[in-house]
Order: sequence, then C-alpha cells, then structure tokens
Amino acid sequence: MKQEIHFVTGKGGVGKSVVAAALALCKSREGQKVLLVELRDQSFYKDFFDLPSVGFQPTAIKDNLSVALWTGEACLQEYARHLIKVESLAKLFFENAVMKAFINVAPALPELAILGKVTSGPRKHGPPLPFDCIVVDAFATGHFIALLEAPKGMAQAVQFGPMGEQSRSIDACIRNQDLCSYHIVTLPEELPMKEASELYQRLGAEFSINPDIILNKMVSLTMPLASLQEAKSEDSDIGQFAAYLAHQAEHQSAMYKKASELTNKIKNIPLIFETKSWPLVEKIAEALK
Ligand SMILES: Nc1ncnc2c1ncn2[C@@H]1O[C@H](COP(=O)(O)OP(=O)(O)OP(=O)(O)O)[C@@H](O)[C@H]1O
Ligand SMILES: [Mg+2]
Repeated sequence: MKQEIHFVTGKGGVGKSVVAAALALCKSREGQKVLLVELRDQSFYKDFFDLPSVGFQPTAIKDNLSVALWTGEACLQEYARHLIKVESLAKLFFENAVMKAFINVAPALPELAILGKVTSGPRKHGPPLPFDCIVVDAFATGHFIALLEAPKGMAQAVQFGPMGEQSRSIDACIRNQDLCSYHIVTLPEELPMKEASELYQRLGAEFSINPDIILNKMVSLTMPLASLQEAKSEDSDIGQFAAYLAHQAEHQSAMYKKASELTNKIKNIPLIFETKSWPLVEKIAEALK
C-alpha cells in the first residue's frame, strides 16, 4: 500500500488546523482512507468539530476520515511495546552503549517517536496504520524544524543498531517527496509571510524539500480595482471602506508576488465569513481542490 503523508505548518494562528482538516476532507472525498493527526496535548478538533473525544487511536468523524491526537510520549510508549514483543530487538534497543548516547539526545526523542509513527506505513515498521493518506496538523515554524531535524540528530548520535537504522530510515522518508508533501500556510501579511519565506528557504536548504505555499484569508474582490479606486474618492463610509479594500488588494498582490518569487506552487484560500466549523472546512476544501 502506498501511503501519502502531508505536513501542514506555518506561523501560529494562520489557519494550519482548519487547512489540515480541509485537506484531509478533500482527500477523503477523492476516495482515500484518511487520518487527520494533531500533534498536541489537548485536542483542537474535539472542540472545533464538537466530537465526544479524540485520542491516540483513530476516531472516525466522516466517511473515509478519522482523527487522532499523537503526543511524543504516546508514540514512544506504543513503539516500545511493539519492540519489546521482538525479544532480540528489545535487547539491542536497551543495550547500555546505545542507551548512553540515546539519553544525550533525549530532548529529540518525542519528535523522533512522532515522525517514526507518521512514517511507519511507507517504512513498513511498527504497528499497522491502515490509511491511504496521513494529514498532519503539525507544529508551528520553529518547532516544526526541530521535529524534522530529530531523525538526523539521532542518527548522528546513535549510528549503530536498530535505533540508528530507524532514525536513518525516518530521515530518508521525510526527505522523500514521492511520499511526503509539505504545506506552509500563511496570511497575506508582512510578518507571517516573512516567517513563511524563511521556513520555505530553510526546508529547501536543510532537507531539499519544496513545500507549497497556502495563502489563507485572501479577501476576494469581485469588483475591478479601478472601480474601487473610483469609489475611494467618495467622502463617506463607503469611500473609506473602498480605500481599505483597495489597500488590502494591493497589499495582497504584493504578498502573492513574494510567495511567487519562492515557488509556483501557491494556493489562495479566501477569507470565509462562516461561523460553523464543517461549512468553513468544506469551503476551504473547495478552494484547495
Ligand atoms: N479562510 C478562512 N476564513 C475564515 N476564517 C478562517 C480561515 N482560516 C482560518 N480561519 C479561522 O482562523 C482561526 C485560526 O485558525 P486555526 O486554528 O486553524 O489556526 P492555527 O494556525 O492552527 O492556529 P494555532 O497555531 O493556534 O494552532 C480559527 O478561528 C479559524 O476558524
Ligand atoms: Mg492549530
């Protein structure tokens, strides 16, 4: 089974979680069996979609669509249990020399365990994960880079034995763009765009990854800019609003230009006036198609 893996990242608050949910919905409607994974201690989707519970084991929320919450600790515990079943591996795993180096890089361990779980399908290693597509609502920029750096760091610290082998295999998997896709969500605003641009360049330089850029909350204007410019001159609230929209439109196209200097893989998502969760996610899914 070939499994697709998608990572959704970007600055805090730009719309990663709703975009990840929309991407997962899109894929599930294409007929793939999709798992939407959130990496946090407390579930966002539980409240957002008003679900009874979201935990480590997948919960079905729609046809072909399940959601799960994976912490590093839960992934590590599951993996350890899986390994211990294989006696000889367990022995190697807990062998002294390995454990020493292992403890030295322990801060990266939860990250490694998460990526080990996320990539377990294509690597055919670990407990079964029977999904065609995994969409990860991943960490924000800085922590996301630390997540991706974990396997390489571990592979350098523990070069031999199953730990070194698994770390190298996870590292190879996250760099394999036939398996993993990366989506940087940003707003058409100065700071998020700057962060997105830096992240884009770092992912390219460090991992040879070419993410796409998702410009979220774009104000879509159906009226031509010229008409707005005209309305701007009116001395009224309408005039002021037209001035605001004209400014916004110009600013947005400047931000779009910045994104297009990085990549031609850009998606625009409109700012959607919708308070209900599923209709919002469905509209974003439409824009992603
Ligand atoms: N295109 C859109 N139109 C309207 N509202 C949106 C759009 N995208 C996101 N939102 C809203 O913006 C808010 C932030 O979105 P979301 O929680 O997905 O961001 P996030 O990047 O995951 O945040 P965090 O970094 O805190 O996890 C939410 O209230 C969401 O409903
Ligand atoms: Mg979020």
